Amino acid sequence: MSREKNVAIMPKITIHDIYKKKAEGRKITVLTAYDFPTAQIVDEAGIDIALVGDSLGMVVQGIDSTLPVTMDEMIYHTRMVARAAKTALVVGDMPFLSYQAGIDEAVRNAGRFLKEAGAEAVKLEGGTAVAAVIRAIVAAGIPVMGHVGLTPQHIHALGGFKVQGRDEAAREKILADARAVQESGAFSVVLEAVPSSLAREIGSILSIPTIGIGAGPHCDGQVLVIHDVLGLFDRFTPKFVKRYASLKDQALKAVRDYKQEVESGTFPAEEQSFK
Ligand code: KIV
Repeated sequence: MSREKNVAIMPKITIHDIYKKKAEGRKITVLTAYDFPTAQIVDEAGIDIALVGDSLGMVVQGIDSTLPVTMDEMIYHTRMVARAAKTALVVGDMPFLSYQAGIDEAVRNAGRFLKEAGAEAVKLEGGTAVAAVIRAIVAAGIPVMGHVGLTPQHIHALGGFKVQGRDEAAREKILADARAVQESGAFSVVLEAVPSSLAREIGSILSIPTIGIGAGPHCDGQVLVIHDVLGLFDRFTPKFVKRYASLKDQALKAVRDYKQEVESGTFPAEEQSFK
């Protein structure tokens, strides 16, 4: 018997599995992934959705916002993630100006994530303002994840990375945005940096899964940026982040040890040398 036959092959997660998890009251797990190694970790850990977030502009490219990230860069990263994701559903994040300037362009760009990069869905930011865009992308057969509340592509309009929905008018606006996302046919919606009470209210009104980031415990699932979870990004840490490892510290120590061993002549030793 070949070794492969003993390996249990898990089928790829689809949006229908995501709906099912919500229906059964099981939490949906989402993490960002930006390349083959991060996607392998996410996938092997059994995370439901690998989101190729445009947050890569900040945590991979070292930019101060997500705004300069391009479609070609997103395709490049999504391809690496899709190659590693054997079971996780791969969602490609539509970057700034890839869907705001016109519906045809938005559908074409959304399609590139599936056609050129191997994603199974796309995510885009906004509510009522992008309802027609979501509808057109979904009509083309491309599942869409919405994103309301703190939408980083609106950083200049919002005046910074701030908690949204603090007053009644702002709550109503976010509620209307979440409703518009659902009515346009999205399969789920990210709620970012909103009070827990608002996330709970949205969750009680919508039938699609809510995925929270800084939105408290009442969402159907949670998403975080993998560099935050692993402790690989220390320029700033939002309040809603929980660090589960300190990989930057460990990597720094390893690289310093290597430097010291090369400089002192301890590396390479006999066991790393050929006879
Ligand atoms: O770009 C991103 O990684 C995101 C998630 C944090 C939701 O939008």
